[in-house]
Amino acid sequence: MDQATSAALLAAHADTGGSMDAHWMPFTANRQFKKAPRLLAKASGMHYWTPEGRQILDGVAGLWCVNAGHGRPKIVQAIQEQAAEMDYAPPFNMGHPKGFELADAVSKLTPDGLNRVFFTNSGSEAVETALKIALAYHRTRGEASRTRLIGRERGYHGVNFGGISVGGMVANRKMFGTMIAGVDHIRHTHDPAKNAFSRGQPAHGAELADDLERLVALHDASTIAAVIVEPVAGSTGVLVPPQGYLQRLRDICDKHGILLIFDEVITGFGRTGNPFAAHTFGVTPDLMTVAKGITNGCVPMGAVIAKQGIHDAFMNGPEHVIELFHGYTYSAHPLACAAGLGTLATYADEGLLTRASQMEATFADAVHGLRDLPNVIDIRNIGLVGGIELAPIAGEPGKRAFNVFLDCWDKGVLIRTTGDTIALSPPLIIEPQHIEQIVSTVAGAIRRAA
Ligand SMILES: Cc1ncc(COP(=O)(O)O)c(C=O)c1O
Repeated sequence: MDQATSAALLAAHADTGGSMDAHWMPFTANRQFKKAPRLLAKASGMHYWTPEGRQILDGVAGLWCVNAGHGRPKIVQAIQEQAAEMDYAPPFNMGHPKGFELADAVSKLTPDGLNRVFFTNSGSEAVETALKIALAYHRTRGEASRTRLIGRERGYHGVNFGGISVGGMVANRKMFGTMIAGVDHIRHTHDPAKNAFSRGQPAHGAELADDLERLVALHDASTIAAVIVEPVAGSTGVLVPPQGYLQRLRDICDKHGILLIFDEVITGFGRTGNPFAAHTFGVTPDLMTVAKGITNGCVPMGAVIAKQGIHDAFMNGPEHVIELFHGYTYSAHPLACAAGLGTLATYADEGLLTRASQMEATFADAVHGLRDLPNVIDIRNIGLVGGIELAPIAGEPGKRAFNVFLDCWDKGVLIRTTGDTIALSPPLIIEPQHIEQIVSTVAGAIRRAA
């Protein structure tokens, strides 16, 4: 039995003086996990393998990041060669060729005008960086009163203080005090009464963007620096933007001189059927945050991509003076840059950044086929993202979906759940037979979780 073998491996670790106690695991039910560990030891293509050799089909691209699938040769080789050639280069007042090469390659994929790339090590850091750039941009232009940041209810922007402040997921916020000052939120766009079981973009809700006008009326535009939203909210349970919503948000931001930030940490690099969700929805932000798919999840990396005008506003003052007092020891880390270049080459070789648009109909048919199963109350999809929302067990929110997750793991499919929503985001190399296996496994688990 799989879990028994994993437990045996951990017992062997214990025999040599080790234990599972020291590793305080992130976003994990630690006690539940350590009683029945789920371990991964190897990965290739669409699959993981457990230490005892059980094959697991990856329905979530690791954590929305392994877009080209696992163990891709160009990426592996690039990382190996870079590690041998130069392990580290300081990024402050120094550079290395691959940092410039990767920034250039990324800027060729982003929507027109977004062509200045600031590297970070994660999505959370990209968000902090984007918020700071927005504040500093207004100040540098002489509009220092624009200090307010606007997020959206149910938004997820990572776990650092700026990100949880503009974020809107209560469990990620309530334990951590008052967060940063001067933040407000527009309403989320989830409206199951009108939009349940929409395929692609829901028809109703463009007017929810007008909630930004309410905050402008309350605070005055002269105090607002930026609005940050995920084009498709992922971590809160796959909320696809209503038709016209993002354009309306763009128009209101333009009207009031507010910067629009798209957090494309999960939507970037092909997830919605185009390189970025900004392309899919035809709306260009002023700043964009990315991570995950930039290196196929192989080496930690994030980035903020800014419109050139935002970057250029900083390029004043004496030339020997640092223009933006911000950066990380590992910004543009050589291994991450090598992984990024290998990743972008793999995406280009295989047309992966638009492959989700070719697979979308097959994927949508399969996930919407779960509609009549017990306790399924909504299904949402875009590109290669699917959300299947289940009715909660009375008094135990999240448990029904978690049971489905455990059941799928037992049956050899890795899925992810948030609250009572199952979120699917498979590698973009997925083939129809994998879709069939993921969805039929989820179907069986939903039936058993009734
Ligand atoms: C939209 C969004 N922003 C930010 C983050 C945070 O990224 P990281 O976990 O790399 O810090 C995530 C992670 O899932 C995300 O989905």
